[in-house]
Amino acid sequence: MGNSEKQGILIVDDRPENLVVLESLLEGRNRNIIKAASGNEALALALEHDLALILLDVQMPDMDGFETAELLRGIERTKYVPIIFVTAISHEEKHVFKGYEVGAVDYLFKPIEPEILKSKVNVFLALHRKTIELKKALETIESQHKELEQSYNDLKAVQSQILQQEKMASIGQLAAGVAHEINNPVGFIMSNLGSLHKYIDKLSEFIKIQTEAIEELSCNPPISPLEKGGEGGFDNIIDKIKESQNALKIDYIMQDIGSLIKESLEGAERVKKIVQDLKSFSHVDESEHNSIDINAGIESTINIVWNELKYKATVKKEYGDIPPTKCNAGQLNQVFMNILVNAAHAIEKQGEITIKTWHENNDIFVSISDTGHGIPADKINRIFEPFFTTKEVGKGTGLGLSIAYDIVKKHNGDIMVESEVGRGTTFTVKIPVVER
Ligand SMILES: Nc1ncnc2c1ncn2[C@@H]1O[C@H](COP(=O)(O)OP(=O)(O)OP(=O)(O)O)[C@@H](O)[C@H]1O
Ligand SMILES: [Mg+2]
Repeated sequence: MGNSEKQGILIVDDRPENLVVLESLLEGRNRNIIKAASGNEALALALEHDLALILLDVQMPDMDGFETAELLRGIERTKYVPIIFVTAISHEEKHVFKGYEVGAVDYLFKPIEPEILKSKVNVFLALHRKTIELKKALETIESQHKELEQSYNDLKAVQSQILQQEKMASIGQLAAGVAHEINNPVGFIMSNLGSLHKYIDKLSEFIKIQTEAIEELSCNPPISPLEKGGEGGFDNIIDKIKESQNALKIDYIMQDIGSLIKESLEGAERVKKIVQDLKSFSHVDESEHNSIDINAGIESTINIVWNELKYKATVKKEYGDIPPTKCNAGQLNQVFMNILVNAAHAIEKQGEITIKTWHENNDIFVSISDTGHGIPADKINRIFEPFFTTKEVGKGTGLGLSIAYDIVKKHNGDIMVESEVGRGTTFTVKIPVVER
């Protein structure tokens, strides 16, 4: 055991012979006995040493033990070091009490009984050792706590990175769905434009034939009805026009042009609507919190994920009369999207998804029910955990509901789930109405 781990005992007595006796009684391998012949000397030594215990004589000239004790209590280094008074004065209680008032932990009376002295000192030194151990343990805990805090912060950073990646992945998935929805109308608009192009060629040719006929007639107008049937006559020209009208299928073209244009306009309208929905889904035009019609948000979200829903379910909507509320619409739409996509995934072949909204006690409720396979009782408590998924690798990351949970909590709302295996699941989102 090194010197630094020796326990310091300060003994204070104005009589040198007492100091010698006390020292001989207390000496030990792990102890460092420091002697002071007066209160002043004791104070000076207390500033220099790490002390585990102080034995203090009460009756001393100049500064008595009580006064010394009071001053020792004022020094940072000795504030909590136990003091045992050693006194020859009477056992009268008032003295004893005075000692306790100035911070004594115990008393010893002269003449000293060596065994009592030793056992008391042993107890306090053992206590001191324990205190030191506890202090060290506390320091370790504190540093571990700091490390843990650091790892927690690191983990949080990683989690937010993962969430960001998940968001990117779900945007990718969405983009694929939206691309599919746009590709279809764009495909037939292109093919219609191709047909229109061919029709224009044929119409131009027909117009050319008609123009030539008009020119011929204006250069050689028929003079008499006799000439009507002759070479270059009126009837001939009419026949030629009719022939080319048939050959170029002008009647069919005229009919088809109408429907091609109508169909293309409808297609363009569909594309326009998808783009509008995309914009309102992500709320790219708006800053964070705005007053929003949640029903409209759900509607645009349904359109965005329509590609995921349409093969699996008929979607029933029961929109209630709900007030506008301030919220981050893009984020809330993400909540509805995650729940809707889960609902579609839970339906094996064909089912029903019902969306209801209502308003109650200044809260807006949105419930999304499906007739899917349901969630078993032993899993339902885990579905909001990040990375909890029952889906095969590549199909689910298990983040959809944890993201939804975080967003709803950030809006001071709540998200609840009820499920019955084999019958279906209902998620209910509660969002408080925020007027401004
Ligand atoms: N409507 C539902 N019906 C049945 N089970 C559901 C439903 N919604 C969620 N679950 C269960 O909760 C789990 C966690 O859902 P969550 O949306 O968090 O992750 P995921 O859908 O598996 O993956 P991700 O959404 O990240 O693609 C799902 O794997 C599924 O087991
Ligand atoms: Mg999901």
